[in-house]
Amino acid sequence: MDKENFDIGMVGLGVMGRNFLLNMADSGYSVIGLDNNKEKASALEKEAGEQHVRGTTSAKEFIAALKKPRAVMMLVPAGKAVDSVIQELIPLIDEGDLIVDGGNSHFTDTNRHSKKLEENNLHFIGMGVSGGEEGARFGPSMMPGGSEDAYDRVKPIFEATAAEVDGKPCVRWLGPGSAGHYVKMVHNGIEYGIMQLIAECYDIMKRGLGLDNERIQKVFAEWNNSELSSFLMEITADIFAQPNDKGDGMLIDAILDNAKQKGTGKWASQDAMDLKVPLPTIDMAVAMRDMSSYKEERLDAENELKGPETAIDIDKDGFIKKLKDAMYFSMVSCYAQGMELLRSASREYKYNLNFEDIATIWRGGCIIRAALLDDITKAYRTNPELANLMVDPDLSQVLIDRQESLREVVSKTAALGIPAPGLMTALAYYDSYRSGHLPANLIQAQRDNFGSHTYERIDQDGTFHSEWNHNS
Ligand code: 6PG
Repeated sequence: MDKENFDIGMVGLGVMGRNFLLNMADSGYSVIGLDNNKEKASALEKEAGEQHVRGTTSAKEFIAALKKPRAVMMLVPAGKAVDSVIQELIPLIDEGDLIVDGGNSHFTDTNRHSKKLEENNLHFIGMGVSGGEEGARFGPSMMPGGSEDAYDRVKPIFEATAAEVDGKPCVRWLGPGSAGHYVKMVHNGIEYGIMQLIAECYDIMKRGLGLDNERIQKVFAEWNNSELSSFLMEITADIFAQPNDKGDGMLIDAILDNAKQKGTGKWASQDAMDLKVPLPTIDMAVAMRDMSSYKEERLDAENELKGPETAIDIDKDGFIKKLKDAMYFSMVSCYAQGMELLRSASREYKYNLNFEDIATIWRGGCIIRAALLDDITKAYRTNPELANLMVDPDLSQVLIDRQESLREVVSKTAALGIPAPGLMTALAYYDSYRSGHLPANLIQAQRDNFGSHTYERIDQDGTFHSEWNHNS
């Protein structure tokens, strides 16, 4: 094995690790991979062909083969596996070396790892990587945060491997500590939200309008050729064209309606609650994945809990146009909610995030890439201090122009008993944000009434408590 020869090392040769490694090799970098599994290590060398790539099962050999100061990236499952790789590497590497965690680690774990490595005079980067297997192989979107000096050393490698939009790589150092993993967590929250919204449109078209898969496929494909153009819309159109490989009909109809999750969307909602940031559409997307897992109970309840007939007797083409507007409005609302969480986290955790940078690197390679991100990028370029995406002059016009369609869609679905909570919360987010007055005065009065929790007044400074009459 060559000594001190490789530009970078990759720990974890699962699909993501192997693909990312081969991507770096394609960009002209020499890379060594480490995995406990011998087959994976040797398969890698075969796959890499003539490129300067090695696979090994020996951590010592792996470390000895890297150029100094060393750069080691890991793509292993978040949680215990990341902890144990770091534990294993620390005694083997030297001061100034860098470890990059490219998995979906929880940001608090990344804070812990950064601190530990810093104490050992080592550098750490927590980097969100989005784009799935395909992205890892041919160009993901990357969200690095942590040691900025050390990032500069690996920047050329990541810029060469990232997806590109308008000649710009979809990677940028985002901030200190866990900034990168935090941004990736919010990316996934938005991902959950948009997936839920698209799923609701499917349900409305299928149950409400009675459309078949072929027609639904055409609608999603048309939407993908419009301002709704996005990766998730594109794969949705593809999904509806996929025949069942183990039976008759289309594959979509053979898939059990129980959506799983690894937790990143939930983490976004959890931290949003801690930071007191409203994320109703993302919360609802998590809740609906949970609801989907109640398959048996739902089947029982279907016969017990009566609702209205679900078919809509109206002009289908006209309603599909409204549904498209409703979907676009809700996408804007969902991104706005995610960006609000980032704005608050940036202050609370001192990430000092640049929102234009984030929107820019989400334009390519990642799961939430969408034409809309061009407008979002522009919104933050025009006003980096924007209070909420919904008040950007261009985006607010989108919402104002399309709200009537969304109102019609949610009222129809409510009347028909088709659950559309993602669309409903997207609208409620807009309506509550634009409400100069909310009924929270009553909540304050109730709190003070039953628990002397006090309230503020609109006409005097200070906090007040009243002796409430108990007449009824
Ligand atoms: C990405 C994705 C990815 C995530 C999957 C599955 O950006 O490439 O977000 O990181 O793991 O989307 O997530 P769930 O299992 O939670 O749906």
